[in-house]
Amino acid sequence: MSSFSSSLSRPSCRSSPTSSLYFSNHSSLINGDPRRSLSFLSASPQEEICLRSQRKSVQSSVVLQDGAVVVVTNSEPAEKLKDGLLSVQSQEADKLVAELGGGQQESTVSITVVGASGDLAKKKIFPALFALYYEGCLPQHFTIYGYARSKMTDGELRDMVSKTLTCRIDKRANCGEKMEEFLKRCFYHTGQYDSQEHFVALDKKLKEHEGGRLSNRLFYLSIPPNIFVDAVKCASSSASSLSGWTRVIVEKPFGRDSKTSAALTNSLKHYLEEDQIFRIDHYLGKELVENLSVLRFSNLIFEPLWSRQYIQNVQFIFSEDFGTEGRGGYFDHYGIIRDIMQNHLLQILALFAMETPVSLDAEDIRNEKVKVLRSMRPIQLEDVVMGQYKSTTKGGVTYPGYTDDKTVPKDSLTPTFAAAALFIDNARWDGVPFLMKAGKALHTRSAEIRVQFKHVPGNLYNRNSGTNLDRTTNELVIRVQPDEGIYLKINNKVPGLGMRLDQSHLNLLYSTRYSKEIPDAYERLLLDAIEGERRLFIRSDELDAAWALFTPLLEEIEEKKMIPEFYPYGSRGPVGAHYLAAKHNVQWGDL
Ligand code: NDP
Ligand code: BG6
Repeated sequence: MSSFSSSLSRPSCRSSPTSSLYFSNHSSLINGDPRRSLSFLSASPQEEICLRSQRKSVQSSVVLQDGAVVVVTNSEPAEKLKDGLLSVQSQEADKLVAELGGGQQESTVSITVVGASGDLAKKKIFPALFALYYEGCLPQHFTIYGYARSKMTDGELRDMVSKTLTCRIDKRANCGEKMEEFLKRCFYHTGQYDSQEHFVALDKKLKEHEGGRLSNRLFYLSIPPNIFVDAVKCASSSASSLSGWTRVIVEKPFGRDSKTSAALTNSLKHYLEEDQIFRIDHYLGKELVENLSVLRFSNLIFEPLWSRQYIQNVQFIFSEDFGTEGRGGYFDHYGIIRDIMQNHLLQILALFAMETPVSLDAEDIRNEKVKVLRSMRPIQLEDVVMGQYKSTTKGGVTYPGYTDDKTVPKDSLTPTFAAAALFIDNARWDGVPFLMKAGKALHTRSAEIRVQFKHVPGNLYNRNSGTNLDRTTNELVIRVQPDEGIYLKINNKVPGLGMRLDQSHLNLLYSTRYSKEIPDAYERLLLDAIEGERRLFIRSDELDAAWALFTPLLEEIEEKKMIPEFYPYGSRGPVGAHYLAAKHNVQWGDL
């Protein structure tokens, strides 16, 4: 099993992929000549910039002209040096790298998308892999295999995949060419998920592409959960790497309660070590969620306020303006609490509320997340409101109700909306309501975190603010999507001779502040899995703690056959959510 450490300084892939290259930051190229640029490098260790993560095993230093030092690890192909040479023209870099790389064993990564014919593979996984390729984040030697039962040729897979690839990144550059190159690296293998024989055949093909290099293999299980274990069994026994690492990305749902989740974990651990399992929660790969710790732990103005002393309540809000179209069969078995709250929103809550970790290492962060999850009070049924959308007609258009979906039973009680009040029984958060709200077929699509602060004690300006003090509380809003941004509501004097206050926003809108488009969550997570960075993946004890919190509630809801409140498609959800908030002296910030 490979070792790992945190690599939190990944500026961008072209300048810092996964192997280890160090050089000083005041180098510059002269007429594109890499040697001349390298001759500017300094040997001073203080000036070395780590451009790649530091999970190397053995390093060798190469001293170039004028004392420049390049450190190369033996665990990475030397060719990847060229990724680090920011502006070296590729041919020159290749030459340089070839000279430096003599005698080192090259490695390769084979990525197998199991369930390649499916929706997620088309919509998210292949486009994310292409984006990584385009950004120069994939290793020099890589192969992508689609695996599924559907009969397809390599060409057909490429046709299918090409329809969903976009030139999102840097539209100016040679995207079409890159797409062609990328597609040439994609292949397809038809097989059953429970057939050792078919995985042996896949292994054979992978070996051909790996060409004797040190092989690393990543399997992405993009299949329904009932076949996870079969596929893992076959992949691990018949298609594991014999020379490098083998990792498996598992998509949610990880069971539907504590029992089934534990059974899944046990079965997976039959064939894999915990550190080979990458349980994906794609919300952890979203830019603003990733930024949460930065915001909190690197700004003096936030961390001291991050407690019951100053925070009145915290809200985690998820809404979609479309129903379960196409996924009703899956959804009806899970419902919104399992689909969104128990994982996406709870994961964000854990990151938000955890104590300061010892370091930014994956294990330190995950230890703190588990602690906070285990400090949560059991959720009471009376602190939960559920809803289900019904058909509505607006402007001559009829929108279907949840049970109009042919794959959903007509008498389904599955909630498509839920709101809940949760509490953390620890010293930091005692008494602070953490409200969650998640729904499908609502009036808008958004995901946000809202932190409502307490009223200013003895506020001199209360008289100027009117009677509703809630309207003057400070609120920090972290908008995860769309229009990613962070804003803080503050009270401000309206300019003029009088003394009138209004509430204004200190606004950090990503699209105006940063010119680069935000990568899709799957890009970050796939890259992390390739690099062996586990920080954004769910460890089994985190999963146990999350299920331990929600399972008793879910069982009670199902035993009592709780009837969800109907709300019209495209509305703001059931009115019960307002009563729930009011019960805890809270107003939803998104209304
Ligand atoms: P699909 O239902 O599209 O299934 C993926 C592939 O699995 C299919 O193309 C099919 O391939 C095979 N398959 C489907 N049903 C069965 C079955 N009963 N037995 C054997 N094989 C089957 O799933 P998605 O692509 O939508 O999702 C994949 C995984 O990701 C699931 O676990 C899902 O819960 C999860 N997920 C999906 C999201 C999405 O947006 N789609 C979002 C988040 C998670 P073939 O017939 O060719 O073998
Ligand atoms: C998935 C849920 O995990 O997340 C879906 O199963 C939901 O029901 C999706 O639509 C939302 O993801 P995103 O990234 O589009 O907000």
